[in-house]
Amino acid sequence: MSKLRSLVPLIAILASVASAGAQPYPSRPITMVVPFAAGGPVDTVARILSEPMRATLGQTFVIENATGAAGSIGVGRVARAAADGYTLSIGHWSTHVVNGAIYALQYDLLRDFEPIALLPSNPMIVVSKNAVPAKDLAEFIAWLKSNQGRVSAGTAGAGSATHIAGVYFQRAIGTDFQFVPYRGTGPALQDLVAGQIDLIVDQASNSVQQVRDGKIRAYAVTAARRLPSAPDIPTAAEAGLPSLNMSVWYGLWAPRGTPKDIVTKLNAAVVHALADANVRQRFGELGLELPRAEQQTPRRSAPIRRPRSRNGGPSSRPPTSRGNDPRAMEHFPEKWVPVFPRKCDQ
Ligand code: MLT
Repeated sequence: MSKLRSLVPLIAILASVASAGAQPYPSRPITMVVPFAAGGPVDTVARILSEPMRATLGQTFVIENATGAAGSIGVGRVARAAADGYTLSIGHWSTHVVNGAIYALQYDLLRDFEPIALLPSNPMIVVSKNAVPAKDLAEFIAWLKSNQGRVSAGTAGAGSATHIAGVYFQRAIGTDFQFVPYRGTGPALQDLVAGQIDLIVDQASNSVQQVRDGKIRAYAVTAARRLPSAPDIPTAAEAGLPSLNMSVWYGLWAPRGTPKDIVTKLNAAVVHALADANVRQRFGELGLELPRAEQQTPRRSAPIRRPRSRNGGPSSRPPTSRGNDPRAMEHFPEKWVPVFPRKCDQ
């Protein structure tokens, strides 16, 4: 009898584990880890998207801003999370590709994540504080050149989209400015409005409202066409800098090993959210471009092969290919080819 009594706690634990396993997914709130500060572009996409996903899945989304190291702290948190569909990673080509090329990460961007869906993409926009005395891109470039070494540009950290776009802009115009890293472009934009920094080569969705409100100046968008939500801003090509052409694709990932039925359920919730009229309108107002329907669900018909290193062993660099989303790839260094659209497109 006393032996039986000693087994009671064990039986209770086993029963609770069995009943938890039987619960349909999702049975509790889902955490979406945003690897940058609140109020920035990744945070905004996460918050707009999670609202209709909550309605579809019947569970609340908790947005957790885990910032630092150009997003690699937050992405690493998801790489180490349980593969149960309750902790997701939202990010873009900088957090989920570029960081793998420039940092010695504690996780593997190819091996440790399960892609859920491709999300909208964001062109960049060249913006400055209002006090800069320039009316157009040509005058702004002339001002940058005459103030070389004294100008400051906000970024979300070394390797972030805003940093790479800033470096790209420097190369295109042949001058240098000083980068100031923030934990996201939300706080960087606040400092731009306040005149604490001079410029940001920002993601359009972050800045477009402040441009419309006259709080900062915009000189060019790096898209092929003007933004429907801000048609007064010329494209970089129209403003005389055709080589400045880039766009940031976004995605949603779960830790590798997440059961396929959960990934499928999450993908369906994203696809449903992207079809929602209110979501489309909000993304459109921010200048975000929706992925094509056939891109929204990842397919894995081809294995991802790592490039070989010089000694023949696997390299830590992401694989390279030219078969990617051209908007993300134009004029972009080959080693930073986005892995995610490659999976989607094949
Ligand atoms: C970036 O890479 O610049 C980030 O998207 C910034 C952010 O989301 O705050």
